[in-house]
Amino acid sequence: MSVATIGPESVPRAPGAVPLLGHAWKLWRDPLGFLKALRESGDIVRISLGTMPVYVVTSSELVHEVTVRQARSFEKGRLFDRLRPLAGNGLATAGGEEHRRHRRLIQPLFHPQRIQLYASVMSDNAQALADSWTPGQEVEMEQAMAGYAVETLAKSLFSTDIGLPAVEAVRENLPVVLKNMLIRAASPKFLDRLPVRANRDFDAAAARLRRVIDEVVATTRRSGATGHNDLLSVLLAARDAETGEALTDTEVRDELSTILFAGAETTASTLAWTFHELARHPEVERQLVDEIHEVVGDRPVAVEDVPRLVAVRRVLDEVIRLHGVTMLMRRATAPVELGGHRFPEGTEVAFSLYAMHRDPALYPDPDRFDPDRWLPERREAIARQSYIPFGAGNRKCIGDAFVWTEATIALATILAKWRLRPVPGHTPREVASAVAHPDRVPMIVEPRTR
Ligand code: HEM
Repeated sequence: MSVATIGPESVPRAPGAVPLLGHAWKLWRDPLGFLKALRESGDIVRISLGTMPVYVVTSSELVHEVTVRQARSFEKGRLFDRLRPLAGNGLATAGGEEHRRHRRLIQPLFHPQRIQLYASVMSDNAQALADSWTPGQEVEMEQAMAGYAVETLAKSLFSTDIGLPAVEAVRENLPVVLKNMLIRAASPKFLDRLPVRANRDFDAAAARLRRVIDEVVATTRRSGATGHNDLLSVLLAARDAETGEALTDTEVRDELSTILFAGAETTASTLAWTFHELARHPEVERQLVDEIHEVVGDRPVAVEDVPRLVAVRRVLDEVIRLHGVTMLMRRATAPVELGGHRFPEGTEVAFSLYAMHRDPALYPDPDRFDPDRWLPERREAIARQSYIPFGAGNRKCIGDAFVWTEATIALATILAKWRLRPVPGHTPREVASAVAHPDRVPMIVEPRTR
């Protein structure tokens, strides 16, 4: 018998399953601890969500197999099925040919020339936020960064006043959806129908978001106000290069919701953690402030500055490594072979970038914040497939260049003006959602004096 004929039954099971819920309770109670511990059971580990088996791949090699080498044999799977009430059949959830068609249509929205246009929104928003603070003020950084991320995305999506209700709805409802998302994804399906609070809140917030965005899309289409440079106008005007087809209003709504869902919390969390880490590492903060002073000086931060702020980039790389995307899933659309085991079509596979980026076999002292890991000479030692904060292969994040620009501009703008100190007595705790975001990051702003 060749190794590849070993079936899924021989994959080791993770400890701790209970009747009915399987490992779902572990994922509710301590998702990050649970996901990290799975590597101790092997490169591929079987868990149960309710009665459904899910195979978690824990090594970077097998994650590469799933996301890149055998990507054609996978679609998005159960986690993303659970997101449909929010993201419909948008880019993150669609599969196969539909995904390819949407990706072709949406890719141009994230072209570097477009990001240059969004950069002025990013810079104005960051400046407005920095100007709104007063010396000695206590700021909840997690909330402030969520406001910045939502507003920047919303203004890039909808540049006219027609979009204002959508911006409001996003600010109000998105946090509710994100808070309940992982619980819902990890839960056995029968729990969806239970009138528990997490379900009610998720459904109501997702429905409100959909309704408001629907109205904005319809009003914009009716008013013919599609000549703007925002994402909504581009989506409404987009035509498939091969078929000449436009997107329907529902497809446009799904793409807008997807981008908002995928781009808001991830960015806010990265920025909030960055301010927290910098306050704990004054020598790193000093280096950044010097670099910002040298590259940008006293003018507003511009898109051209972004690639020159290399120390900022190292800090962001390290923050995203430490607090990245919690759990992703795929479903096999054909028989696949992973780690010497053969799995039938329909098998659900999961992986955690968060856990992978904290694997001591890949990163010495993995829990330590050490931006110098990303110095050119040390970066070379980290295999490319071991650091994939934006995923890899055909489903790789479409917003990576957007977020680098957005986060760099926010950091450079705020750090030039303010020094942020943690409020004594609170240490931020990681909370698992799409990413491992901080519960609260209260900080005091002090004017920066050089
Ligand atoms: C620090 C910030 C971000 C992180 C860590 C991040 C991470 C990721 C990852 C890991 C994936 C792949 C998911 C998978 O393989 O299943 C992804 C997909 C995606 N991201 Fe991001 N993302 C970030 C910001 C953004 C932003 C700002 C946007 C939009 C403006 C965005 C839009 C998307 C979309 C639409 C997809 C689906 C792509 C596809 O399936 O073709 N993301 N993101």
